[in-house]
Amino acid sequence: MKKIAFFDTKPYDRTYFDKYGKNYEITYFEEKLNHHTAKITEGFDGVCAFVNSNINKMAIERMHERGVQILAMRCAGFSNVDIAAAAGKLAVVRVPAYSPHAVAEHALALLLALNRRIYRAYIRTRDFNFNINGLTGIDLYGKTAGIIGTGKIGRTFIDLCRGLGMKVIAYDPYPAEGSGIEYVSLDTLFRESDVISLHCPLTESSYHIIDREALGKMKDGAFLLNTSRGALVDSEALLEVLTAGKLRGAALDVYEEEANLFYEDMSDKIIKDDTLALLVSRPNVLITSHQAFLTEEALDNIASVTIQNFDEFFAGKPLKNEVCIRCAGN
Ligand code: NAI
Repeated sequence: MKKIAFFDTKPYDRTYFDKYGKNYEITYFEEKLNHHTAKITEGFDGVCAFVNSNINKMAIERMHERGVQILAMRCAGFSNVDIAAAAGKLAVVRVPAYSPHAVAEHALALLLALNRRIYRAYIRTRDFNFNINGLTGIDLYGKTAGIIGTGKIGRTFIDLCRGLGMKVIAYDPYPAEGSGIEYVSLDTLFRESDVISLHCPLTESSYHIIDREALGKMKDGAFLLNTSRGALVDSEALLEVLTAGKLRGAALDVYEEEANLFYEDMSDKIIKDDTLALLVSRPNVLITSHQAFLTEEALDNIASVTIQNFDEFFAGKPLKNEVCIRCAGN
């Protein structure tokens, strides 16, 4: 039986990987994968990791030296893997799509909750405070949603926005032909959107795509949603415009410095990240802990596709979901 080292394990991962991974000897580690923990991969044939692992050159070299042949990311994004360093050392695979609905529906949940301040209302009524001051929202019907990135998740979110009766405009350097989507420049999208939602990958060109300048161009009273990757948004600049009262609110499922915070219970710790602490404290900011993917259907798909990826590799078959510098689509 091939041996798999599974990093950054949470109870819900085991449920689904135990179901599909019966032909493998899986050892579950709670630690994230990085260049320190890569030392414990001795004797494993494959490694499975997740979004907040830091899989740099040294981590890859350490796994390679210890005989690991394949790194299976159980997520779509792979901006945390040094793909160039893996060339010729480790095969890298991922799960390109497991449920665009999971992420798009979470983005919608964030938008609705943020607009109508549901998270504040819930806390008030639990305390028998039935005052509704400060909870005023806007009708989303007839407003404009600006979607950045019209891949699987972006297009699913567009359908949801249209279901609300919103007008949709979008920006993508590779527009989806024949999709009926109205593409505009980024500047136009910033100027005209009442809701801006990010659905593009994190790359060198999209890093801080929402920076101080972009935020400055946005409509007063716009909403910003980020369910993609934290570093798409310059968080300090976001905090500044929120403090200045320019935006109506922001909902973030991802945060650029989330790696050592998200997925952990930090409630008895001092959070040293002042930007995050201030964002959390704002009444018009709603933060969730990178949970947009977290549905039963998505977890099931993640586990089955990851195990298929291992199966293909160990059977010497072509890898459908390989990530490499020269792979098509990467
Ligand atoms: P996809 O690959 O189907 O679509 C991405 C789209 O973004 C493509 O159309 C591409 O042309 C476009 N794009 C690339 N660079 C761009 C740029 N600079 N500006 C605008 N558009 C750009 O990916 P999918 O499945 O729709 O996922 C989108 C993102 O969602 C992922 O990259 C990932 O970061 C994030 N994600 C977040 C999850 C969560 O739990 N919060 C779970 C899964 C994905």
